[in-house]
Amino acid sequence: MEDRREFLKQLGCVAGGAALLAGAPWLSSCTPERIREISGEKARIALIGTGSRGQYHIHNLLLIPHARIVALCDCYEPNLQAAAALCPGAKLYRDYRKLLEDKDIDGVIISTPLGSHAAITLDALSAGKHVFCEKAMARTLDECKAVYDAYRKSDKVLYFCMQRMFDEKYLRGMKLLHDGLIGEIVGMRCHWFRNADWRREVPSPELERQINWRLYKEHSGGLMTELACHQIEVCNLAVGRIPQSISGMGDIVYWKDGREVYDSVNVIYRYADGRKINYESLISNKFNGMEDQILGKKGTMELAKGVYYLEEDNSRSGIECLIDSMKEKVLTSVPLAGPSWRPEVKGQYIPHNIVEGKISVNGGQNMIGVDNDGSDVILSAFCSACITGEKAVNVVEEAYCATVLCLLGNKAMEEQRTILFPEYYKIPYMKF
Ligand SMILES: NC(=O)c1ccc[n+]([C@@H]2O[C@H](COP(=O)([O-])OP(=O)(O)OC[C@H]3O[C@@H](n4cnc5c(N)ncnc54)[C@H](O)[C@@H]3O)[C@@H](O)[C@H]2O)c1
Repeated sequence: MEDRREFLKQLGCVAGGAALLAGAPWLSSCTPERIREISGEKARIALIGTGSRGQYHIHNLLLIPHARIVALCDCYEPNLQAAAALCPGAKLYRDYRKLLEDKDIDGVIISTPLGSHAAITLDALSAGKHVFCEKAMARTLDECKAVYDAYRKSDKVLYFCMQRMFDEKYLRGMKLLHDGLIGEIVGMRCHWFRNADWRREVPSPELERQINWRLYKEHSGGLMTELACHQIEVCNLAVGRIPQSISGMGDIVYWKDGREVYDSVNVIYRYADGRKINYESLISNKFNGMEDQILGKKGTMELAKGVYYLEEDNSRSGIECLIDSMKEKVLTSVPLAGPSWRPEVKGQYIPHNIVEGKISVNGGQNMIGVDNDGSDVILSAFCSACITGEKAVNVVEEAYCATVLCLLGNKAMEEQRTILFPEYYKIPYMKF
């Protein structure tokens, strides 16, 4: 927490802080000046959806000085009561429409299943509330468009939880990328591997779709909207472009348990200049973990870990040299494709930290808030915007682009064809 406070406090005043703001204008609501401006005031916040992520947000909100949780809403009583225990005094609602009539609420945080994001966001904006909705933006392309159009017309603040835009290692990493540290970006590889079924225990069978919503297409876009959404956004920010064509393959390889969404996806996003994002996610093997890897002519950045490697640092460890010399002996005695053929075994690179002293390894197990991934900072930005009325810069646009691309990824896999980014879903913010 201290680190976070330090980061928030220093933004804009440390050497390089102003430059960081220049490349990430959405941070304007977290500057020391803005925090001073709202000092003593508290945004009156309500949560709609108090399951796993909703309770995580509650833990973060309790640490934000300019936030007060005044109401909670959930249609599943055990989750409502679990949240109520964390926020004594908050009003309880079972129907979000009733909550939206409450005049003592400035902003709502929506952490319900994806299938309901668009309807609740649209209703909340119409009811005159500021809105912070979980990613992804919406379940369908048309819902994304409807939310984006409503946002353009609304005078209310709207955020989507694209927390990597507020994560220090991603922010500083982006600055280094844009300053040319790893040379020209030539490609991107993102993956998310887990070994878990995504299932939750269901107390009674009729609650299966409600509780295990992630597994059913009516409510969920599967791995693409749940996981890839964050990663595709990072790639777009890195190159400052939107991919033009999308192809992929998706399957249910292992978890053949009645679910409808893929448990294995491979999607290629191609930018107009030929650069590609190679996206892979599998939830029956976790060997490779999760990473957002940006490949440059002079080096590679792994933003999730917060490290970069330079091509010139490729020095081999002693043991690797030994293994290589052994391989070479075997290979030179076996006739191969040609006399100069050598296997390009991955070399040893020296990792450099993006943020001094920090390498980030996150097992994804933190359910109680504050794990320095930007979720607390973006929430703090939203709460301060509920007081100042300052609109988020680029956050809705980034959420729109990432969500639409993930939904197009699903479409490409389902229809087994390459999809060109449809004209109808383009917005002026997009550069191809
Ligand atoms: N930004 C991130 O990194 C991140 C991480 C985890 C989850 N999420 C997102 O958060 C959202 C919630 O995920 P979760 O794991 O907390 O799910 P969850 O099932 O644990 O919680 C969802 C809650 O919403 C409630 N709910 C459903 N419909 C409702 C309605 N109409 N009105 C009121 N309450 C309703 C459910 O009863 C449940 O308690 C999803 O969109 C998910 O993608 C984002």
